[in-house]
Amino acid sequence: MSDWLITGCSELITLHGAVPRRGRALRELGIIRDGALLVRGDRIAAVGPRRRIERLRPARRAEKLDLGGRVVLPGFVDSHTHLIFPCSRAAEYEQRISGASYEEIARSGGGIRSTVERLRRSPAKNLKARALAHLREFAAHGTTTLEAKSGYGLDWKSEHKILQTLYDLHQEQALDIHSTFLGAHVVPREFRRRPDRYVDLLVRRWIPTVATAGLAEYCDVYCDAGAFTVAQSRRILTAGRACGLVPRIHAEQLAHTGAARLAIEVNAASADHLEKIDRADIRALALSNVVCTLLPGCCFHLGLSQFAPARALIEAGAIVGLATDFNPGTSPTLSMPMILSIACTQMRMTPAEAISAATINAAYSLRLHDRIGSLEVGKYADIAAFEVADHREIPYYFGVNLCSMTMKRGEVIYSKRN
Ligand code: NIG
Ligand code: FE
Repeated sequence: MSDWLITGCSELITLHGAVPRRGRALRELGIIRDGALLVRGDRIAAVGPRRRIERLRPARRAEKLDLGGRVVLPGFVDSHTHLIFPCSRAAEYEQRISGASYEEIARSGGGIRSTVERLRRSPAKNLKARALAHLREFAAHGTTTLEAKSGYGLDWKSEHKILQTLYDLHQEQALDIHSTFLGAHVVPREFRRRPDRYVDLLVRRWIPTVATAGLAEYCDVYCDAGAFTVAQSRRILTAGRACGLVPRIHAEQLAHTGAARLAIEVNAASADHLEKIDRADIRALALSNVVCTLLPGCCFHLGLSQFAPARALIEAGAIVGLATDFNPGTSPTLSMPMILSIACTQMRMTPAEAISAATINAAYSLRLHDRIGSLEVGKYADIAAFEVADHREIPYYFGVNLCSMTMKRGEVIYSKRN
């Protein structure tokens, strides 16, 4: 592994400072103009103005990487993905365009359950090959760490197949994958008439087994109309927490259920979606340490106009994060730059707020902020460079990939020139 002296950063976005970012602090990117980074092994050894870093003794021996005037950021931390799925749901996309709603399609046997049927029949090697191709694209869009959920298996064999595939992928390729057990995605067909029996199975068997085997770090529930109730979600997240799985929750996406309050009650690391929260929820979230992970790719893809109230959350002082929610039903994108564009245009986040939300606050939501999410001495050299001179141009140019180089732990894993 070589040491690197990285120069040619028109803006080096360090994000040093407060963790997590709330309120006005979200706009503080810690920009160094004409900045440089010294990377030794897998870590950042020095960050600062080029003229100072270049003079450091180890910088003279390091390999030189002149980016030629690019914006350089910490690699994106995508804190909400459903990485493992067997196929697209493009037919449903067309049905929705013709007027069917997401909920109607789900009730008539489509939606999550149709992906579950297919995944159960898919060999692990096919799922893995598909995910590997996606991971290369994540890297090519500047993402260096992902959270990934199970939840399209919903029987033990298939949930295990997903978590084992995630573990193998984490070992075998460069991006870091942190797994979440989402056995509570929807009630599977076999338990449709006795959902509480399924919750019993999760709580008594699967959650303890997943935790003991070290197959996941977090436990998630889809708490919504058509999925799990607040009472069921409470049982599941509490059981997970008792086994050491950190709670996360899909909350207040399609209906207002009380899931955001539950997130606070169980001290969840993250409450995700939040399109349907009210003013009292916003106040309560702002007073908590729960990261409000907004997933605007869903409203964009589903053609819904009610995005999560990002401005109100930021102004109230909540910790706001952003993620792709990469999945075949509601958000088939793995591009964090595209999520930034939607967040800025549709939720009126500023480009700086969106960048903080997609890096340091997302790292905080995964409890990884001591290692990733900012460019500071001692942290992993997880870096993304963009072919722009001003960070605001990252969301501004939407729908194109301007990422020119991605480094993961000191190794160049993507370069546009190659
Ligand atoms: O985060 N809401 C639940 N899960 C996904 C959708 C999954 C699907 O439709 O396949 C989400 O939006
Ligand atoms: Fe999701």
